[in-house]
Amino acid sequence: MFRTHTCGELRLTDVNKATTLSGWVQTIRKFGSITFVDLRDRYGITQLLFSETLNEKLEASPLGREFVLQVHGTVNERSNKNNHMPTGEIEILINDFTVLNKSITPPFTIQDDTDGGDDLRMKYRFLDLRRQAVRKNLELRYAVGRSTRNYLHEQQFMDIETPFLIKSTPEGARDFVVPSRMNPGQFYALPQSPQTFKQLLMVSGYDRYYQIVKCFRDEDLRSDRQPEFTQIDCEMTFVDQEDILNMFENLIKRIFKDVKNIDYNDLVERMTWENAMWTYGNDKPDIRFGMKLCNLKFPAHTFPAQNDISNLISGVDFKVFDEAETVIAIAAPGCSEYTRKQTDELTEWLKRPQIGMKGLVYIKCNTDGTFKSSVDKFYNEEKLKAIADAVNAKAGDLILILAGAEERTRKATSELRLHLGQQLGLRKIDEFKLLWVLDFPLFEYAEEDNRWVARHHPFTSPKPSDIATMINNNPVIENAAEYLKHPYANIKANAYDMVLNGNEIGGGSIRIFQKELQQKMFAALGMDEHEQQHKFGFLLGAFEYGAPPHGGIAFGFDRLCSILGGSESIRDFIAFPKNNSGRDVMIDAPSSIDEKQFEELQIKLDLKD
Ligand code: AMO
Repeated sequence: MFRTHTCGELRLTDVNKATTLSGWVQTIRKFGSITFVDLRDRYGITQLLFSETLNEKLEASPLGREFVLQVHGTVNERSNKNNHMPTGEIEILINDFTVLNKSITPPFTIQDDTDGGDDLRMKYRFLDLRRQAVRKNLELRYAVGRSTRNYLHEQQFMDIETPFLIKSTPEGARDFVVPSRMNPGQFYALPQSPQTFKQLLMVSGYDRYYQIVKCFRDEDLRSDRQPEFTQIDCEMTFVDQEDILNMFENLIKRIFKDVKNIDYNDLVERMTWENAMWTYGNDKPDIRFGMKLCNLKFPAHTFPAQNDISNLISGVDFKVFDEAETVIAIAAPGCSEYTRKQTDELTEWLKRPQIGMKGLVYIKCNTDGTFKSSVDKFYNEEKLKAIADAVNAKAGDLILILAGAEERTRKATSELRLHLGQQLGLRKIDEFKLLWVLDFPLFEYAEEDNRWVARHHPFTSPKPSDIATMINNNPVIENAAEYLKHPYANIKANAYDMVLNGNEIGGGSIRIFQKELQQKMFAALGMDEHEQQHKFGFLLGAFEYGAPPHGGIAFGFDRLCSILGGSESIRDFIAFPKNNSGRDVMIDAPSSIDEKQFEELQIKLDLKD
């Protein structure tokens, strides 16, 4: 028997018990003639005490870090207790030991504050995975998966696998493709999601489907994106949007409870996409804190005009504002005493190419009720106060104003808000705020091709009230500069995103289930009948056989885990992730393949420079 207990198990109540443990050597400390070893396994760390009677054997068979060791001994109460570890009140007095395997010196220390850099830890991921911090992340991931499965099972969802070797499913990224040996010159695509299959399962009458499933997308990587990632993918029949929102906010609440022991009793907030853009400049707002955007001036065509207050800033011949398409302000709470250096730093931060603003205007709302601004030359005290009132700024706040082209300025203000929220400690990692963003536009304008693309995906239905607009108008955009005036620009989708602390953790929609409307949708996206048949003939065909109304959602499983675990990066929650160039540096993939494999595939490699 390799062990009677694990390294995380023994306590004071076990004193005097005989025990056999097996694990890895974490540390070795010599004190005169005795040796202390910390032995580690998945369950914890236990201190071992080798008395001098074992010194001869230790000399003959020396121990080293990460050696695999089996020890026999007796549980003993420690004189020097360690309250920071569960086994800290005991140690094992060793009678005998066996080195089960040796280890060469690991390239970094296997502990929470390891000395290994990112790249090194990725190359030796199997060692990195030994660290408690990483193991805790994977345990959390497992717990989220278990909770998800329990809930969905109770709600009668059925886990059904769908294929990986398929035909392209458009989810907005590039496909990964796999050549077919048996069909030379032809390729499978790996699924960007199981979207069309889950819809077909609804046509087949399975009613409630789910899958915790790998998806593959060839897109630019960021800390919250991997080329292969996991979704909690769900679909339901005979449901409207309200049914879906209820079902899945309860899933997330259940995960909060099971995994974090959090009772999320608050109502999950809902916000239209338009409102999110207006008040946060972002379609996935972090609503843990305020600092809402105040639109001092905006192009009327961008969103249906709201409450025009541009008179507050006009009429003083301040060209920066007069010439800007958009002027947006936010109030940073309690920051009126920011120094020149601090406001300069913010300005520099905004001028970086990623943000691309030209400058920053500020108004300090002093605690004595006076105002001091970078534009005192143009705006008198009375005008500054009127702006402060509009921005809802209080005495002690610092108003920051950005001006420029609509899209860039809105995005920059949103970034500035998040940056300040972080700096001011308003984005607490142990606070969780859920939000549904609703009523997205159905279409997005693709400038390079002067055509419409689906904002979510082509299977998303328009709001019932917008179906007539879609059917009765020609999708062609005659005047690219005025695409926003095209009736399609205002069509809203039956789509929803779930946002957690400023991250899009899930998205879905009520689907189109009538063949004619689906064809109209494909046509609106510029697909002629031939292309529709070639790409989606199977789906259009299925819709002819009594397709029921249906809808669904998919959650980013890795993302959800990383937020619950308080980390920015989803990589920390994936056992074997890829780096930012999409490489697995441990196994060295992607890599070239054998000449023979090319031959079998009847493919000749002729790389373009
Ligand atoms: P969508 O494309 O919005 O919807 O994806 C659903 C969720 O998956 C997560 N996600 C990612 N996570 C890590 N790396 C990536 N590259 C990545 N891309 C997306 C996000 C996102 O919210 N078929 C539809 C769902 C549906 O309509 O039911 C779909 O895939 O958290």
